[in-house]
Amino acid sequence: MSNNNELESFSNKNELNTISKFVKNLTTIKNPDEMIKQAQKGGLKKTLGAFDLIILGVGAIIGSGIFTVVGIAAAGSAESAGAGPGLIISMILASLACVFSALCYSEFASMIPVAGSAYLYTYATMGEFMAWIIGWVLMLEYIVGYIAVVSAWSGYFMQFLRGFSKFLPDFIVNPPIYLIHDYTTVVRELSSDGIDPSTVIPTFLGIPICVNIPGIIITIIIIAFLIKGMQESTKMAGLMVIIKLGVVAMFVITGAFYIKPQNWTPFAPNGLEGIFMGAFIIFFAYIGFDAIATAAEETKNPQKNLPIGIIGSLGVCTVVYVLVALVLTGVVPIDKIDVHAPIASAMTMVGQNWVAGLISIGALTGLTSVLLVLMLAATRILYAMSRDRFLPSVLQTLHPKFKTPCILTIFVGIICIIGSILLNISTAAELCNFGTFASFIIVCVAVLILRKIDPDRPRPFKVPLSPFLPILGILCCGGLMIYSMQFLKTSRILFPIWVILGIAFYFLYGYKEQRKAQNETKEVNNG
Ligand code: ALA
Repeated sequence: MSNNNELESFSNKNELNTISKFVKNLTTIKNPDEMIKQAQKGGLKKTLGAFDLIILGVGAIIGSGIFTVVGIAAAGSAESAGAGPGLIISMILASLACVFSALCYSEFASMIPVAGSAYLYTYATMGEFMAWIIGWVLMLEYIVGYIAVVSAWSGYFMQFLRGFSKFLPDFIVNPPIYLIHDYTTVVRELSSDGIDPSTVIPTFLGIPICVNIPGIIITIIIIAFLIKGMQESTKMAGLMVIIKLGVVAMFVITGAFYIKPQNWTPFAPNGLEGIFMGAFIIFFAYIGFDAIATAAEETKNPQKNLPIGIIGSLGVCTVVYVLVALVLTGVVPIDKIDVHAPIASAMTMVGQNWVAGLISIGALTGLTSVLLVLMLAATRILYAMSRDRFLPSVLQTLHPKFKTPCILTIFVGIICIIGSILLNISTAAELCNFGTFASFIIVCVAVLILRKIDPDRPRPFKVPLSPFLPILGILCCGGLMIYSMQFLKTSRILFPIWVILGIAFYFLYGYKEQRKAQNETKEVNNG
């Protein structure tokens, strides 16, 4: 009997040991100094200054959010109530959620200037498992965000081509719908015209074929630019930023002459629901400033330049957005806002057709720069994850001449192309928002944890009024995320599915690779 008890207690102890080892593995944190050392070996070229970062930031931020999604935020959609002129409040709310998180990003980016951004900040504070999850969620932000923007891009591109219908053949100007959109958009558009989609969409082995060809072409061009190098990419982004800021300024200045103050009443036609859903939707327009942190290893004097780049670009965009919201809702009555091209249509409505034309060209340019930065950010996150053995090491291969992660860039490009065939713009934008909110919340939490566990680490930039501002960041992002989940039916299902897939992938691949890496390090240390 006593032998039995001993055996039982022995096996219980063994079980406890295994569980505690497992938990220890999941929560193993990575020392920030080790990250910085590893990054120094990486060989990415340091070419970016503060101004380049602001350009990169504005390049990433101003895009389909302000050129397209703003109309849905103001006027509403099937799943969300519109904010009306109260959009200005929605914009300020969304911007506040971003500012608190931007401050936290800046503290980390100046302290640990390495390519992995939120993924590595989490690794330094919450350990391996949470780091993987956040890396996985960041893929939603950057890759699915890219898919949303590329969908808007091809819409504007087709509109642009139609302007040349006198000179171009009809098959280019008016191609079949299944060659320019994803499957769900094609089905929705055909059905709304009373056409049976199965009579139009071709199939291969029973699978319907819908491909966004303009999206594929621009993605191949973006891949080529990113492989060519950061400096070239930011130079191109710089030119595009000037063009898009120019057309937005033109909209604000021209529109200001057509504002009718009576359009601002009622101020919030759908009450608080409209304001909060507007804030959730328009949050998409602010996404991108965090992408700057992913370029940390390619930044000169990152301790100083990263906070300037992050907060500077967010500041510029907030001012621009509030002005656009004021003018748009002041010029167009809320029930007349065109949700496909709200800014350009507002100018057409007041008879300024040439301004509308220029806005379409500016939108196309603006969207291109967003595409460039989103794909850049996706590759840099995955680069850091592959360096940590969460992903195969072949992804770290640098181009021999340009020193950029070429295989990874092509890999991300292919995922973006496949995604652009499967997802429509609104689901992609909502999913991207969920991923971004989740990563912002974790970065705010991580700042608080690192202050506790490593209070003496030099912090060239510190979030003021901590812990209040990081806590406000968590509340704003968490509140908007939870509030919107009650209305958004598709994305609220896809988001948890994505997280569960990530957990499964971690246990099937990442967890094992980490243990292998740990054993190898032990063997090397033992001699
Ligand atoms: N903020 C980016 C855009 O609006 C994602 O396109």
